[in-house]
Amino acid sequence: MSEGLVTVSYIGATILFILTLGGLSNQETARRGNLYGMIGMAIAIIATVFGPEVTSNVHLIIIMMLIGGTIGIVLAKKVEMTQMPELVAILHSLVGLAAVLVGYVNFMDETISFPTEVEKTIHEVEIYIGILIGAVTFSGSIIAFGKLSGKIGGNPLMLPARHWLNLGLLIAAIYFGYDFVHQGHIDGGNALMPLMIMTCIALLFGIHMVMAIGGADMPVVVSMLNSYSGWAASATGFMLGNDLLIVVGALVGSSGAILSYIMCRAMNRNFISVIAGGFGTDSSSAGSSDAGEDQGEVISVETDDVAGLLLDAKEVMIIPGYGMAVAQAQHTVHEITQVLREKGVNVRFGIHPVAGRMPGHMNVLLAEAKVPYDIVFEMEEINDDFPNIDVSMIIGANDIVNPSALDDPNSPIAGMPVLECWKGKTTIVMKRGMATGYAGVQNPLFFKENTRMFFGDAKQRLDEVLKELL
Ligand code: TAP
Repeated sequence: MSEGLVTVSYIGATILFILTLGGLSNQETARRGNLYGMIGMAIAIIATVFGPEVTSNVHLIIIMMLIGGTIGIVLAKKVEMTQMPELVAILHSLVGLAAVLVGYVNFMDETISFPTEVEKTIHEVEIYIGILIGAVTFSGSIIAFGKLSGKIGGNPLMLPARHWLNLGLLIAAIYFGYDFVHQGHIDGGNALMPLMIMTCIALLFGIHMVMAIGGADMPVVVSMLNSYSGWAASATGFMLGNDLLIVVGALVGSSGAILSYIMCRAMNRNFISVIAGGFGTDSSSAGSSDAGEDQGEVISVETDDVAGLLLDAKEVMIIPGYGMAVAQAQHTVHEITQVLREKGVNVRFGIHPVAGRMPGHMNVLLAEAKVPYDIVFEMEEINDDFPNIDVSMIIGANDIVNPSALDDPNSPIAGMPVLECWKGKTTIVMKRGMATGYAGVQNPLFFKENTRMFFGDAKQRLDEVLKELL
């Protein structure tokens, strides 16, 4: 493929990637957005592999792509929807690892020559920054994977003087960066040593950064690592002199940063505090002082009570959470919605920005079940409507409807806006037992006078309710 054709393909792919981001910003166009992304990526891969830069070993590249692609297909087919965030985290770690490996290969490549010292220095800085971001992304994403999959505990690791430790690591990384460039320009200099020391520092920094983040702040970390992986890819693009990788990496990096900002705003968190670690957990409660503690009696109800409450209601608000994803109850939820609407009940959905385990998790499930978009509302659109709601139906949600976020300044989720369903007439909470949610705190909502606990697997119990309604 000629250089001209590669350039045209790269421009086409870039446009498709921009259209992808545009498409993904709205549920109705998300599918189309994904399609643009897939076509753009196919064009990018073909143009790169068959372009003039690849002069040998094309067959090896294709074999490796087939192996990698097959592993990807098998994994994607096997993974449950609830395991998606872990999969995304581990994929981010691979982007980071790729940046580190490309950096080292570039550093060791003796065939690259530079006409001027300045160009050599620029190349060295690209390598250093690429490896730095890549290593932070790699180790941070592995820890995020551990936390999201429950292999590592959700409580933040609060080392004494942790901010000083971070600052020390940052200063050391800058110092070794200077040493790396300096060693590269003196005869007999050993630039590999500072590069390797910095890699260890960056790996440590990634681990410490994510370990220090409390369970409820994980959504911000996931989007932040998404952003880092973009910048790591962009840095790789600079090292390889590949314009498309630079642009695509910057698109991912900046959109991930915007998403992190949106997440922080949604959770009423200060971005810097979240990155610095352990926001909201400075108090002695450190995450779960009241976890599992008995806060009084709960009133539990059975299928016929729930069906009766729903049929008597005029205004119903359904609030789905992580438990709906676990139970795969979205289709039954849609059927119940249809039946109630046919009977003249106004049913709406209230979606919390961090419900579930990944951004847009609930929207994806409801779209899959074909719930009409016009009855699905974001939290800020409907939070003032609760005093007019007859029945709020909480389906496997916990943290996102926890009043202690507003009432208890010592709670790990203090300050996070929540769906204020308790202001309605009756709240039905569906869950299997009295277990806490992701943040590990007990929920005073369950003990309120107007709350009814409907225990059991959400899908199973909703199937029963549906039968009762028909
Ligand atoms: P959670 O607070 O985790 O609560 C989910 C509840 O669902 C649990 O209390 C559980 O109680 C119940 N449940 C589990 N399986 C169930 C089943 N089969 N049937 C019925 N109920 C079931 O979820 P949430 O309210 O959606 O809040 C999300 C939390 O995750 C927040 O703390 C958020 O910060 C965090 N987080 C979010 C993200 C993103 S980006 N969305 C990423 C990482 C972390 P039982 O075990 O008693 O049934």
